[in-house]
Amino acid sequence: MRSLRNASILITGGGSGLGRGAALHFVRCGAKVTICGRRQNKIDAVAKELGNNCLAVQGDITIAGDRQRIVDAAIQHGNGLFALINNAGNMYRGSIEELQEEHLLEIFHSNVIAGMMLSGLTLPHLEKTQGAIIFIGSTHTRRAMPGASPYAASKAAVQGLSRVLAAELGPKKIRVNCILPGAVFTEINQRAGLFDDETAKKRLDGLSNMHVLGRIGTEKEIAEAIEYLIRAEWTTGAVVEVDGGFGLGALNA
Ligand SMILES: NC(=O)c1ccc[n+]([C@@H]2O[C@H](COP(=O)([O-])OP(=O)(O)OC[C@H]3O[C@@H](n4cnc5c(N)ncnc54)[C@H](OP(=O)(O)O)[C@@H]3O)[C@@H](O)[C@H]2O)c1
Repeated sequence: MRSLRNASILITGGGSGLGRGAALHFVRCGAKVTICGRRQNKIDAVAKELGNNCLAVQGDITIAGDRQRIVDAAIQHGNGLFALINNAGNMYRGSIEELQEEHLLEIFHSNVIAGMMLSGLTLPHLEKTQGAIIFIGSTHTRRAMPGASPYAASKAAVQGLSRVLAAELGPKKIRVNCILPGAVFTEINQRAGLFDDETAKKRLDGLSNMHVLGRIGTEKEIAEAIEYLIRAEWTTGAVVEVDGGFGLGALNA
């Protein structure tokens, strides 16, 4: 297993939710973490909480110039790059006849294309460290939720492309893996304007009994799985469910 002491890790969308949880976890592991996000106040708060080993870079990963600036800052902060965690993502829901093309393009831009472009951009740096790329997919590719086709389609793309990149980058000794988290309470639905905080929490808690382990997950539990995949030297192309058994679709029939 690779050590994370002083390892440079770039986490997109590190100002909240799973990205924030990963930043906390990896700073505790001794890594040099760079986070990015569009809202300055959110990433600044995380960096302030974590101290000098976490650098916050404001930027939108759907903008090429921002991506370059974020990567340059991570390279400088961590003296190279060992892992890219393509975590930033957005939710878009609606019944098929209501979907708007503009919003579909937006969600594919942030959830799929930006991570692909970042993977290409960081490639020379990851090759030097024989590093790793993590894509955050979703249990939406395991459980069909009516109304969630835009999000599920974007996550299916992420899941598929991560395996192709694993094959493509294996000869360069870069590992590429994908995690499918189950339900974790974050801001994703609230930012999309779908629910307020209280309703979002109730809704997720209501899913607890559909997870065979009887509860929703935590940010830390997702971060621990990311840690394994970043450190494991002979694991690539894996699609790992970290979902309390939600994706099993268990039926007590
Ligand atoms: N929570 C769950 O149950 C769950 C389950 C499965 C998968 N996931 C996935 O986990 C990942 C993290 O989501 P989360 O649940 O932690 O939600 P979250 O708290 O809303 O975090 C997503 C972060 O991404 C950032 N972001 C979005 N678009 C961006 C862009 N264009 N440029 C830079 N940053 C951007 C957001 O910050 P700004 O708005 O400030 O940019 C936000 O901090 C997502 O890929 C999501 O699809 C979540």
